[in-house]
Amino acid sequence: MLYNRDILSINDLTVEDIENIFRLTDFLKTEEGKAHKPLLGKSVALYFEKPSTRTRVSFEVGVFQLGGQAIYLDNKSLQISRGETLADTARVLSRYVNCIVARTLKDETVRELAKYADIPVINALTNREHPCQALGDIYTIKEKLGSYRGIKFSYIGDGNNVANSLLLITSKLGINFSIASPVGYEIKDDVKDTAIKYAKESGAVVEFHNNPELAVKDADIIYTDVWVSMGDEAEEEKRNRDFQNFRVDSRLLKLAKPTVKVMHCLPAIRGKEITDEVMDGPNSIIFDQAENRLHVQKAILSLILG
Ligand code: CP
Repeated sequence: MLYNRDILSINDLTVEDIENIFRLTDFLKTEEGKAHKPLLGKSVALYFEKPSTRTRVSFEVGVFQLGGQAIYLDNKSLQISRGETLADTARVLSRYVNCIVARTLKDETVRELAKYADIPVINALTNREHPCQALGDIYTIKEKLGSYRGIKFSYIGDGNNVANSLLLITSKLGINFSIASPVGYEIKDDVKDTAIKYAKESGAVVEFHNNPELAVKDADIIYTDVWVSMGDEAEEEKRNRDFQNFRVDSRLLKLAKPTVKVMHCLPAIRGKEITDEVMDGPNSIIFDQAENRLHVQKAILSLILG
């Protein structure tokens, strides 16, 4: 049961929780599901410290479609910008709204919000994780391939927040995960260790490479993300150099299964981590993946607040 729970990390979810989210998402995508209004009379605050297109819009629209009200709160326009504490902000929001969806620079911030809020808090991206993205992504794989257990998921690029959540969710669900990152940009050991523990339980194989060609061999899914994440802008020139052999292009796709699907959490920097040809080509499921953020997040909100 997800009722009244925080989702700060994929680690907060059991396999059963994830399957329940996906089952409800299937229903919400039906005509009957569109009439589901569990958030009638409820409000959700969206507290954002970073820019967003998909997460902000999909949460705002999702809350509306479920019958509730979303209130977008940019940290620069809250009293927090003038010295009110995050703890007091969390206490006050808890008296007005039913849930906080938070995108924060630091993972500690979303955890502090959850500590002082009396209402559920959902992580909408921190420097450490992006659990809603990973849930939408695996749902999309299930939708496209029919199932996900035992498939090979290859991630090419930075061992960032998205990669962390994807490693955790795949290893939990029995999806074989293979990542190639440049030296110095690998997933951190503590996340790897947790994933290796999950993989032992689920039977998933996890592989860590520095060579994209090895990582994508016979892959069912190739996934990539930007070379320069939000907050890493000062390193842009160096990153563009370090990642130049980590571009997802048609040559790399040829090493995967002929049926390989290509995914990207977006926004993409076309011509850097992914070519136009691949992004707009027949293997790409990138825009269906973006749409599923809406449906999966509606399921999450319904289960937490319904
Ligand atoms: N993928 C993702 O979270 O997109 P936004 O940064 O636009 O929300």
